[in-house]
Amino acid sequence: MRPTIEWKEGKIVLIDQRRLPLEEVYLECRDENEVAEAIESLAIRGAPAIGVAAAYGVALGLLQVRPEEDLAARFGQIIGRLARTRPTARNLFWALERMKRVFEENRRLPCGALALRLVREAQAIEKDDLERNKKIGLLGRELIRDGNSVLTHCNAGGLATAGYGTAIGIIRAAFEQGKRIHVFVDETRPFLQGARLTAWELDRLGIPFTLITDNMAGWLMKKGEIHLAITGADRIASNGDAANKIGTYSIAVLARHHRLPFYIAAPLSSFDFSLRDGGGIPIEERPSVEVRAVGGCTVTLPHVPVRNPAFDVTPGKLVSAIISERGIARPPYSKSLRPWREKNEEELSLF
Ligand code: MRU
Repeated sequence: MRPTIEWKEGKIVLIDQRRLPLEEVYLECRDENEVAEAIESLAIRGAPAIGVAAAYGVALGLLQVRPEEDLAARFGQIIGRLARTRPTARNLFWALERMKRVFEENRRLPCGALALRLVREAQAIEKDDLERNKKIGLLGRELIRDGNSVLTHCNAGGLATAGYGTAIGIIRAAFEQGKRIHVFVDETRPFLQGARLTAWELDRLGIPFTLITDNMAGWLMKKGEIHLAITGADRIASNGDAANKIGTYSIAVLARHHRLPFYIAAPLSSFDFSLRDGGGIPIEERPSVEVRAVGGCTVTLPHVPVRNPAFDVTPGKLVSAIISERGIARPPYSKSLRPWREKNEEELSLF
C-alpha cells in the first residue's frame, strides 16, 4: 500500500479519501493552496494527516516564492492560508508552529536552501508521526484481550495519519500479536469515514470486522457483543476532555452506561495543554449538504434546516484511559497528563 502522503520532487501525492473505497485515485498538490483545498474538501483528513499535509504545504509554498517577494510576508500568508482550513485538529497548528520555528531559526539561509530545510522538516514530521503511532499500538494493545470485540468510530487508521494509525494502530498491534479480535465499525454519518475508510483499511489488513450504522452500538453493547470502544482524537485538553468525530460523545456515554471501557488514542501532537478543559476547543461546522445527502444522493427536502457540527467533546471523566506514545494515562487527567505536558513543551523547544 502506498503511504497516505508521499513527497515526490516538488509536489505531494495523496490518496483522495473522498473517492474511497470505490476508486483509488491519487491527487497531486504543488503549492499551499492546493494543499489547503485538499484539507478543506476532506481529500486528506484525520488530525495527524492534516498536520503532515500542512507541513508539506508550507514547504511547497516556500519553494514557489519569487526573488522579488518579501519572504517574511509571503511566509505569513502561507501559514495563514493553511491555518484557516480546519479549526479543530490541534495537529494542524502544532505542525505549523514547528515549521514556523524552523523558518525563524534558518532565516539567514538563501530562500532555496531555506525551502529545502522546510521540506526536510515536513519529512521529519511525517516520519515522527509514523513512529509515534507504532509506539501507541504497542502500548495500547495490552488493553485488548484475546477474543474481544472492539467498537471504533470514524477513521483513526493509516489514512488519518502518516501511516499505521492510532485507534486502528492499537487494534492492528493486538491483531499482529495473534489475539483473536473482532471490530465493529460505526459507519460515521455524515461523511461515512467508518464505512468508506476504516472498512477499506481493515479489509486490506485482514482484520475481521462488521460494519454497523451509528445507532446500533448501544443495542450491541446491551447484548454483550461489544467489550470496549477505542477512538482517536483531534484535540485533547489538560483535563482529558477530548474532541473527536461527532458521535464519539454518544459512544462514551453508552460505554459508561454499560460499564465498558472507552479509550482514546492520540499522539502528543493532538494535545492542547493551553486549554484547561474542552470548553475552549473550536468545533468545525461543515456544509449542510453533507447531511442532506448520503453518497451524493439527496435524502431530504432542499429547504429543511440542518446542523452539521463535525466534532463533539467527550468529557475526560467518561474516558477510561488515554494512550499516547508516552504511555497510558488514567483519570484524573489533570494530574496524570502533567508529565506529558512537560515532555510536549520540551519537544517543542527542541524544534
Ligand atoms: O473530519 P475528519 O475525518 O478529519 O475527522 C477525523 C477524526 O475525527 C479522527 O478520529 C481523528 O482525527 C483522529 S485520527 C488519528
